[in-house]
Amino acid sequence: MEFAIETAGLGKSYRNHVALRGVDLAARPGTVLGVLGPNGAGKTTTVRILATLLAPDSGRALVAGHDVAREPKLVRRRIGLAGQYAAVDEMLTGRENLILLGTLLHLGRRRAKRRAAELLDRFALTEAADRRLSTYSGGMRRRLDLATCLIAEPAVLFLDEPTTGLDPASRIQLWANIRGLVAEGVTVLLTTQYLDEADELADQIAVIDGGRVIAEGTPEQLKRKVGSDRIEVTLAAAADVPAAARAVATVSAGVPVTDERAGRIALHLEDGIDGIAAVSGALAAAGIPVTDFAVRRPTLDDVFLELTEH
Ligand SMILES: Nc1ncnc2c1ncn2[C@@H]1O[C@H](COP(=O)(O)OP(=O)(O)O)[C@@H](O)[C@H]1O
Ligand SMILES: [Mg+2]
Repeated sequence: MEFAIETAGLGKSYRNHVALRGVDLAARPGTVLGVLGPNGAGKTTTVRILATLLAPDSGRALVAGHDVAREPKLVRRRIGLAGQYAAVDEMLTGRENLILLGTLLHLGRRRAKRRAAELLDRFALTEAADRRLSTYSGGMRRRLDLATCLIAEPAVLFLDEPTTGLDPASRIQLWANIRGLVAEGVTVLLTTQYLDEADELADQIAVIDGGRVIAEGTPEQLKRKVGSDRIEVTLAAAADVPAAARAVATVSAGVPVTDERAGRIALHLEDGIDGIAAVSGALAAAGIPVTDFAVRRPTLDDVFLELTEH
């Protein structure tokens, strides 16, 4: 099987609102496909179609080698969808929720118990295992959610904005958990609004907007396509802006963007660390005092600005 997930021309409308306009995606087994897009782009619709919860109006999708329209049961047997058991019981403990679900999936009580213990351990929930879900933090809930969709050991996992709303430490922990699963051969389709998340986790990224894929590639390819890192320099004196722009022009091919009111100049970073040194050196040589010097990575906003401008 070349691809664990493959779609061709997926289309979907809700009444007269077109949500997907021909989405083509492909993920090789054991990799992470990041589907990156703003609110309303069509991410959840795509995931719901791939997870057999929603029928497409047009196009085809294969998941774990099975057609979602013709063999939905076989697809369901091979996939996990985070968020699918939103019906987890608040009054039950984390462990009880997992055991209940395992029993519903016909694991048998003994195997369900063992699987629950394994998953609680894997997601650092052993200590909280016997507390009611209603006492869990946001990060713990997401980890339990991930654990629930792993009970049946799926080959393909769909994670719809898994870290939205989480604090930075919980995000990093969840990223590590996801990486661990991929290392074991699970194929992950992850949707996100955050370039940094796609960058951290994805082997391939598809950027979607308005129901279509507007760019795709590896994180590196995509970032190169949407522009390099930027250097932003804040000057001690706003009046120095023209002089600073002249100074950095000697070491940079691009034209700096200036903001005279804020006393700031910004330019694309060339040559990585050497470029940083060259810019800071040019300003120092011109005797221009600087209060802040920052390197800013392209954000999803930059990606969209670039992609929709051209
Ligand atoms: N059940 C629905 N009924 C009508 N419109 C919907 C429904 N679900 C989603 N949409 C619309 O379809 C578009 C895509 O939504 P969605 O797939 O949820 O995007 P995302 O997950 O990227 O935010 C949006 O414009 C959204 O408003
Ligand atoms: Mg969504």
